[in-house]
Amino acid sequence: MSDSHSDALVFFGATGDLAYKKIFPALQAMVKRGHLNAPVIGVARSSWTVDQLRARARDSVEKHGGVDRAAFEKLSGLLRYVSGDYQDPATFQKLRKELGAAERPAHYLAIPPEMFETVVEQLGKSGCAKNARVIVEKPFGTDLASARELNRVLLATFQEPAIFRIDHYLGKRPVHNISYFRFANSFLEPFWNRNHIESMQITMAEDFGIEGRGAFYDQTGAIRDVVQNHLFQVLTLLAMEPPVRTDSESLRDEKVKVLKAMPPLDVKNVVRGQFRGYRTEKGVAPESQVETFVALRLEINSWRWQGVPFYIRAGKRLPVTCTEVFVRLRLPPTIYPSQALKPNHLRLRITPDTVIALGMMTLAPGEEMTGQAVEMLASHHPRADEVDAYERLLGDAMAGDATLFAREDYVEEAWRIVDPALKAGIPVYVYEPGAWGPDEVAGRVSPAGGWHNPAPDEARFRTA
Ligand code: BG6
Repeated sequence: MSDSHSDALVFFGATGDLAYKKIFPALQAMVKRGHLNAPVIGVARSSWTVDQLRARARDSVEKHGGVDRAAFEKLSGLLRYVSGDYQDPATFQKLRKELGAAERPAHYLAIPPEMFETVVEQLGKSGCAKNARVIVEKPFGTDLASARELNRVLLATFQEPAIFRIDHYLGKRPVHNISYFRFANSFLEPFWNRNHIESMQITMAEDFGIEGRGAFYDQTGAIRDVVQNHLFQVLTLLAMEPPVRTDSESLRDEKVKVLKAMPPLDVKNVVRGQFRGYRTEKGVAPESQVETFVALRLEINSWRWQGVPFYIRAGKRLPVTCTEVFVRLRLPPTIYPSQALKPNHLRLRITPDTVIALGMMTLAPGEEMTGQAVEMLASHHPRADEVDAYERLLGDAMAGDATLFAREDYVEEAWRIVDPALKAGIPVYVYEPGAWGPDEVAGRVSPAGGWHNPAPDEARFRTA
């Protein structure tokens, strides 16, 4: 363990849903790979014993990926538990004691954001924040003003380099691969600009609904839930300039520069939708105006991208579950007037499998002078290859590597861009479950040449 590596992991919200679904499985995987060998202290209100926490951890890994006996036993040995109210200083005294010889703990707040302030203050007052890191989960506020307030709260106790804001999309290897693919190849750069690219689309489609999260979702909607964070991360990786160094700040500087070049969303470039049946979900208001779908068009006023429209589309109850980037190139000058040429494209699929494919025209087999659009598949991996995002991110945070985390200025710039759309009362149109959003999208927010709807990928080479 290096001098700067966290020597204990404290996680608040240990009895909660996120811990159950994501964190215990990630911890087991970290232990298995030899990346976690420090005490793991769960904190929550329930007056459990550490054995109850172990039982919960076992149940969690059984349901999410399976128990690895050796790794789980080791994890069990690392687990500790502190129960108590977050308002009560005594809880943090107990935590201080439980930390024992640990000098550089990482505090992971897997708790609702309303509780951040109390917990962060108490960490400061109790001495538990000394030389510590803090890891927070989205949402980082619900608009620009609340994001600033949250940053104020965090920065009152921790310095920015010690704050790790998790956007789990950044922990996905195919997302990371966007910048790798862009900057580890030379063929891409000559066309990666306004001279050759006509438009970019990012689609995040989910075929499921809100899965019992009605109370949360009805306060949130698609723009806050996935656009301002996950999809903007994808967008900035696609659009940023090559970083001058590979350290975390040089890289994050470039991402912030992309956001700075983006004007706030123009409400006429936003279509919101709601799937039929959403309002009868538990926890959802009967007259809810919250969007479960959004399609929007953005601009990046930089030297590289001015004039190129960027489209984002995200929604629940769509025909498939898939996140895909589709980059459409400009058509060449026409010397084959009778031919219908399809523009070239680059397709980057992020989930559920990962794909990099290049679309092009070739002469079709046979005697006629007809062309065919084909796709060359450069790489195709099933998702099973991936290291889980939480495993990667918790490991990086404990190691002090901030590259894959959202920085304060990034979060605030992202809110600045979406804020007007959140506050403008843009109408919400109903769409049928299983459709690609409401019909209104086609006339209002639609790339030239149309949206590319992701479909299952099977063949290595296929006709597009
Ligand atoms: C979460 C959103 O942040 O990301 C969910 O709250 C969404 O609504 C999820 O379904 C998608 O992430 P993944 O990793 O399951 O594709």
